Amino acid sequence: MRILVTGGAGYIGSVVSEELLQAGHEVVVFDNLSRGHRQAVPKKAELVVGDLADRACLDELFRSRAIDAVMHFAALIEAGESMKAPEQFFRNNTANALTLLEAMLAARVKSFVFSSTAALFGNPARTPIEEDDTLQPTNAYGESKLLVERMLGWFHQIHGFRYASLRYFNAAGASRPDRGEAHRPETHLIPRILDVALGRAPHLNIFGCDYPTPDGTCIRDYIHVSDLARAHLLALEVLALENSGPLLYNLGNGQGFSVREVVEVARRVTGHPLPVIESARRAGDPAVLIASSEKIRRDLGWQPRFPDLKTIVESAWQWQRTHPDGYGSMP
Ligand code: UFG
Repeated sequence: MRILVTGGAGYIGSVVSEELLQAGHEVVVFDNLSRGHRQAVPKKAELVVGDLADRACLDELFRSRAIDAVMHFAALIEAGESMKAPEQFFRNNTANALTLLEAMLAARVKSFVFSSTAALFGNPARTPIEEDDTLQPTNAYGESKLLVERMLGWFHQIHGFRYASLRYFNAAGASRPDRGEAHRPETHLIPRILDVALGRAPHLNIFGCDYPTPDGTCIRDYIHVSDLARAHLLALEVLALENSGPLLYNLGNGQGFSVREVVEVARRVTGHPLPVIESARRAGDPAVLIASSEKIRRDLGWQPRFPDLKTIVESAWQWQRTHPDGYGSMP
């Protein structure tokens, strides 16, 4: 198949693009490079630099290339940021997704894999979280993605769209020593811890030590980016079948780690003392997010290959140590 990957110059999009190529698909990456990196796009993929707000550009892309399915990663992702500038999230994540869906509709491309998020659930009523638990985001980021899921439901019902919505918990790790996480600015926990180990920051600020958790810090379910990528390929196979219904899946390892526990694992991996400072809570952070991924295991036979947090941190460390400036460190 020929797959259009929006955000394919980003962290997860580039890893999935590579897996798609390895599986024998053709990949067209569409990215405005505002957050992504040209060097992250796999060599065998075609890169089209453009913006999802530009409907004419999308129409031309669909007209000139026989696209079979779309995987949509391009989005703003920092939950904390979304509590300062929600309008940017509704514009980038919600309005731009609608433009993409409209362009797909016009081009009669009806298979869609959506990069969704655990942030849909807000403060969940129970743990681990199952797919049909209450959706009640505590930040504008989660809301901006929930609105897309809702649109997709209607596009399925009315226009016969076949879609998968993959709700990532905390994506982490590196798929190869030369392909990893490189956000600008970096806000995510594991790379920020590793920045301390590299001497690029004096300490880690722990955002909130008074949460109702055993050690007072937030608990998250970290999932290796290669395991996430695999789920996309499995979903794509099912979407190729006529009349496949909406596929809604949570993706995590079913095990939560507090911020302090992640720091401890990183101390073991890096051998650095990793000083921390207890700081104020970050707006919009739920206390605990742990996935039940039973549904995707059952339906698609998905199995994480790298569920161990130490393995995840080691792979991130290998990438970050050798690429302290991310893709800027590459020739
Ligand atoms: N944290 C710190 N210090 C830091 C960075 C993070 O204490 O310097 C804490 C956060 O407050 C949070 C935890 O570490 O409690 C994890 O934070 P991340 O920023 O790494 O990840 P989030 O859980 O906020 O969000 C991530 C992605 C979202 C996704 C979500 C799903 O950014 O896109 O996981 O759980 F939706």
